[in-house]
Amino acid sequence: MDITATDEWAALVDHHRELAPRTLRELFAEDPERAHRLTGTAGDLYVDWSKHRVTDETVRLLVALAEKAGVPQRIEAMFRGEHINATEDRAVLHVALRAPEQVALTVDGQDVTADVHAVLAKMRGFADRVRSGEWKGHTGERITAVVNIGIGGSDLGPAMAYTALQDHSARDITFRFVSNIDPTDFYEKTRDLDPATTLFIVCSKTFTTLETLTNATVARDWLLAALGDDSAVAKHFVAVSTNADAVAEFGIDTENMFGFWDWVGGRYSFTSAIGLSLMVAIGPDGYDDMLAGFHAVDEHFRTAPPAENLPLLQGLLNVWYTNFFGSQTHAVLPYSQYLSRLPAYLQQLTMESNGKSVRWDGQPVTTATGEVYWGEPGTNGQHAFHQLLHQGTSIIPADFIGFGEPNHDIGEMHDLLMANLFAQSAVLAFGRTAEEVEADGTPADVVPHKVMPGNRPSTTVLAPELTPSTLGQLIAFYEHTVFTEGAVWQIDSFDQWGVELGKVMARQLGPALTSEAAPEMDQDASTVALVQHYRKLRGR
Ligand code: F6P
Repeated sequence: MDITATDEWAALVDHHRELAPRTLRELFAEDPERAHRLTGTAGDLYVDWSKHRVTDETVRLLVALAEKAGVPQRIEAMFRGEHINATEDRAVLHVALRAPEQVALTVDGQDVTADVHAVLAKMRGFADRVRSGEWKGHTGERITAVVNIGIGGSDLGPAMAYTALQDHSARDITFRFVSNIDPTDFYEKTRDLDPATTLFIVCSKTFTTLETLTNATVARDWLLAALGDDSAVAKHFVAVSTNADAVAEFGIDTENMFGFWDWVGGRYSFTSAIGLSLMVAIGPDGYDDMLAGFHAVDEHFRTAPPAENLPLLQGLLNVWYTNFFGSQTHAVLPYSQYLSRLPAYLQQLTMESNGKSVRWDGQPVTTATGEVYWGEPGTNGQHAFHQLLHQGTSIIPADFIGFGEPNHDIGEMHDLLMANLFAQSAVLAFGRTAEEVEADGTPADVVPHKVMPGNRPSTTVLAPELTPSTLGQLIAFYEHTVFTEGAVWQIDSFDQWGVELGKVMARQLGPALTSEAAPEMDQDASTVALVQHYRKLRGR
């Protein structure tokens, strides 16, 4: 089915024509109640979507579109473990990673629940031993630094969540995240660490990723140069992977491996054993709270009727702006310094999932997909890029995220932070007219420059406090938003074929950069010229 050829899509095209000229000022003036009605809760999250360019009719039409696209059935199919990742013929079961033990689920002959909880139990035991000091390094000293080595989904989740939950973490252990094959990443993250008290957690779903295996090899050399004995590896390296053979081949005892399964996508993996470094940081109890937070929003997504289903509505709003208003980017503005890595995490989640041009039936898409996600914590962004949000020529839907209680209450700082959040979303929505600017006595020639167009949509998500649980709820909210968009667009949100060719070519090009003799190259002229210039810079 081509979703853009349906009556439901056509109805939205007509509706958009009528609604596009209307302003949020008018919509609020006609219906002030929308400030209460167009809100909802999922777990502890209070989501206000009243500042979107929608009416009740828009929501009705968007929900009809979702139903036409079979979104509710697809949600059920995901939770049942059907192979909705069509191009890889896999189930998509990250929701099973945070389901309680009593939820029975057997998929493709695997007792998913039992396996998930067996790994969680092993993780808890390990995390407790590291945190208590019972796990000793090669020289008998306790571990004081944990370095996660991984990239993409094997880095961004734990790195983002560790940054978010530092205040809940073991402050007597240093946590670092090495991802880039740029040698400076490894250097800077380890330069002040003592090999005798450092533990590496090597995370890779496939255990074939160039960056991760290179960093892990460099880490092993760094360790052995100091400790001088191969047997040290067992005390200083553990692995998280689905590929036991490759882990063993690398030299890590599979006793020290924490497994997961092919039905966990890389960017959906941070509640699998990929979260091990986070569990060491925040402890098993905090980690359990986080899983419970995820599960609460998973259940909301599975059971809430479409018109009250907040991740589903947010996904439909994103479709509304992308396909009917022509928006191309989406700002994420957490008013929390602890969430500084959230935009980077969401970039992989959203863009690797929905940056697709072919539908799951192999046909080209007939409308835009995906959005460019970007952002920074407020209030920093206000002094950098908000100018474009307010007065630029594009419509950029924005997500404001804030908390009732700060992790550290210092004077009025948190209230001022939140005042800024509320002010920004209000100014974006309601702007300032030329008459209002003139009334201030602004000179006529400056008036147009000070007019704030308004009518710029945003969602505000408020949670009581940033805790493991609310972080889990927030991430699940975004995961299911992405799911909804992909289901409407009929694309496979769980594969990522587009990243493969570049990896293959980088492997081919490596020797041309490192060889002493001038290489024979059959690449395009631009690449050959760049490699030649690079070789000159390197004195080769
Ligand atoms: O480059 C894309 C990707 O495959 C991501 O999807 C994944 O999260 C990342 O690489 C890392 O993969 P792995 O965990 O197998 O090392």
